[in-house]
Amino acid sequence: MKNKRRDFIKLAGMAGAGIIVGSDRALAMQPKVRDHMQAFNMHGFRAPKLDRVRVGLVGVGNRGSGTLIRLASIENVDIVALCDILPQNVQQAIQSIEGFGHSPTIYTDGEDAWKELCDRDDIDLVYIATPWKYHAPIAVYAMESGKHVYTELPVGVTLEECWQVVETSERTKKHCYMGSSSCHEGMSAIVLNMVRQGFFGELVHGEGNYIHDRVNGPGRWERDENNWFGYRPWRLKENVGRNGNLYPQHGLGPVAQMMDLNYGDKMDYLVSISSNDFTMGPKMKELAENDPYFEPYEGLKFRGNINTTLIRTNKGRTIMLQHDISSPRPGSRFQLISGSKGIYQADPARIATSEEWMKEEEFKALVEKFTPKITKSFQEKVSQAGGIKGGRSYERVAASDWRLIDCLRNGLPMEMDVYDAALWSVVTPLSEQSVAQMGNTVKVPDFTSGSWKSNKRGMDIHLAEGGNTNLI
Ligand SMILES: NC(=O)c1ccc[n+]([C@@H]2O[C@H](COP(=O)([O-])OP(=O)(O)OC[C@H]3O[C@@H](n4cnc5c(N)ncnc54)[C@H](O)[C@@H]3O)[C@@H](O)[C@H]2O)c1
Repeated sequence: MKNKRRDFIKLAGMAGAGIIVGSDRALAMQPKVRDHMQAFNMHGFRAPKLDRVRVGLVGVGNRGSGTLIRLASIENVDIVALCDILPQNVQQAIQSIEGFGHSPTIYTDGEDAWKELCDRDDIDLVYIATPWKYHAPIAVYAMESGKHVYTELPVGVTLEECWQVVETSERTKKHCYMGSSSCHEGMSAIVLNMVRQGFFGELVHGEGNYIHDRVNGPGRWERDENNWFGYRPWRLKENVGRNGNLYPQHGLGPVAQMMDLNYGDKMDYLVSISSNDFTMGPKMKELAENDPYFEPYEGLKFRGNINTTLIRTNKGRTIMLQHDISSPRPGSRFQLISGSKGIYQADPARIATSEEWMKEEEFKALVEKFTPKITKSFQEKVSQAGGIKGGRSYERVAASDWRLIDCLRNGLPMEMDVYDAALWSVVTPLSEQSVAQMGNTVKVPDFTSGSWKSNKRGMDIHLAEGGNTNLI
């Protein structure tokens, strides 16, 4: 009897909760041959300067509420509007920036309320931190409405969506920036500087991961009234019926910048394989024993625990990306860059120019020598603003957000442009396709339409221009 009830709940729940949506997505995502004529080259594009940057945020859950505080802590930013389908999330978000001097208009009336926000004529930048399926539709609509876009990862979940954002950005001449904060954090900017100065010689290979245990730690499956603590139902559903690297951007971003992908080199093709799932399925079974909420998930086919994707570039370099959010192991993101003269490897951070790792003092001296102006300048801004203060938690101010606003205010090119957003996102559907075909080779589209051969380097780590935006 219990089993029958479970079967019914499972079917009803799967349909109602949209769990089936992800299934067969890989088959629906066969790369189409697309004759894209670049309407305008957005790489290096300088939009008119903005004295103040007026922002509307869509999705103020876990990530969006943090970004709200980070943006509100930057000089000359006005938080004009907030949108979320959950009014309580917007209320909490507003409380979190009390005292910052913003009085945003609220949009909470249904799944499409973000359209009203985008339709306003007093917003410069629309920030998107919703579940993944809304990112491309909101980004396209916002650009069509004359707004620049700052989206969380990924910019789109299908190849088609990646092309849509590229085409819309080119046609509207609006920036579409995908925030992979990993490119500014930790050692990334320092190693990028070393790469550009030839320390590692000709680059040969890079590795980046999204290894982040979301399944096994304490509290991972606790539920509050809307969500699970530390985990989101929509994000769990993304792991059903899909199999590939679902979140490549954090690990790939720094490697792509070091390898000049989209401006000097480009991805040529990839192959991808996944293990079976050994933890998600059993976890659902265990949870469903005590909580009917999880019964719809029991017996479903979950993404393999670890996915490994290998990419070859036109210059003959290789990249290995791994994704695993369901094995009990320490986390890892940007992992390694290796060249004809040396190697940098993370966890622990170390450098070698021979078979031996360098001594710690030598490593520290290199870090000091190669820390670029963008990193030093941001650290100075944080300390000028009083460092980490109680309610304004400066540890939540990110260099990437600061520099985004700085570039918009100074009319500078984006450090990660729409081509980077599309390329770093398309790895997901292409990896799913390769996995579905037992690791077959899949060609990677060139979103720059050949401009990668002449595009100049992105990310101005020496702050040749701008850098004059302060924190408050
Ligand atoms: N860059 C990073 O380091 C980083 C870190 C965490 C999350 N993220 C990304 O941020 C995004 C959001 O993740 P999260 O963990 O905050 O998820 P979340 O579930 O906590 O937040 C999503 C929010 O979107 C709202 N929402 C859902 N549908 C909506 C709609 N139609 N209109 C308006 N609002 C809607 C939800 O109510 C919720 O408040 C994801 O893309 C995730 O990958 C990035």
